[in-house]
Amino acid sequence: MLTQLKVGHFRCFEQFECSFVPGINLIIGPNARGKTSLLEAACLLLRLQSPRTSKLGELIRHGARGLLVDGYYSGAHLQFYYSPQRKKLALDSVEQRSATECLKLARVVWFSNADVDIIRNSGETRRRFLDFVAAQTNPSYRKALRDYDRALRSRNLLLKAPTPKWREIQAFDEPLQTAGQTLMHIRLELVTALRPLAQLAHAGISGAREKLEMDYLPGAAPTLPEALAAARVEDTRLRQTTVGPHRDDLQLTLSGSPAGLGSEGQQRTLVLALRLAAARLLEAQFGAPPLLLLDDVFGELDIARRASLLEQLPANSQQIITTTQREWLPKELQAHVVDFN
Ligand SMILES: Nc1ncnc2c1ncn2[C@@H]1O[C@H](COP(=O)(O)OP(=O)(O)OP(=O)(O)O)[C@@H](O)[C@H]1O
Ligand SMILES: [Mg+2]
Repeated sequence: MLTQLKVGHFRCFEQFECSFVPGINLIIGPNARGKTSLLEAACLLLRLQSPRTSKLGELIRHGARGLLVDGYYSGAHLQFYYSPQRKKLALDSVEQRSATECLKLARVVWFSNADVDIIRNSGETRRRFLDFVAAQTNPSYRKALRDYDRALRSRNLLLKAPTPKWREIQAFDEPLQTAGQTLMHIRLELVTALRPLAQLAHAGISGAREKLEMDYLPGAAPTLPEALAAARVEDTRLRQTTVGPHRDDLQLTLSGSPAGLGSEGQQRTLVLALRLAAARLLEAQFGAPPLLLLDDVFGELDIARRASLLEQLPANSQQIITTTQREWLPKELQAHVVDFN
């Protein structure tokens, strides 16, 4: 579990330090004090990525050169410095060349009141949801994602040339296909594993009124190499790679109707079920529940849903919950409080 967290030049913080306990931790305070930022710092420390953005530069406090997150997870000391020029990662004061050992320490599931964006936004938001979980369930995923992005960017750059040279473009097809097929394979496996867990969690919160379906929609068919070969004319015309896992999507439906047409409450329930499914999957795989970071989720829910969410969170998990008010909390709830008031 995460026992201590220190941040420097991180979002609105110049310097800030706090401690956490096993079980429930509350970060309470008015708007814009840095509650979400602190959760994000915990996530960055343990997973080296932010659930809010893929651009780590955004997390650096305005006017500062780089950010620092530092903390203890189950006795291990993690330190991460990031600036656009330099990244430095240390585990127990030993500088790490690769992130592998640090990423083995902890699993994290992020719940946010902005999670309905998973339903409402473009496929990119759904891919980010899958990526965040897959990077934890499968150690090859992060590298495949990086390799794929690199090959895709180079290939697209060549396609933008006034007269694209296919011999050069093809040079990127091999790394693109290798990494791309790995991503697609892991994503399919992940969606298959999440489906029954999400359905169970969904039935638990909604009272089993409608059935949740989730399907992986590959951005290349029947296989990536075949799709790439078939898309040459289209790629040349549009000057970009039009097929591949960067076009993958996750189809979400409720009793056969697109989740985006559901009511506010139905959509909130659905995304909670997705996050809970991720938590259950990680717990089953690693034999211990992940750290749960819950950003302002309870305030948005009605009393019945709040109670069933609290019930459904894996027992014995460490939870860090942000909220502006504590009125909604059950009086008997035992929690450690980080107070921004
Ligand atoms: N890179 C940055 N540098 C400086 N300030 C930043 C940076 N990024 C965000 N902020 C500011 O940090 C403040 C805290 O944001 P945060 O989202 O953590 O607040 P919060 O306590 O979660 O608020 P709310 O209750 O509204 O969700 C905001 O005023 C935001 O504008
Ligand atoms: Mg917030």
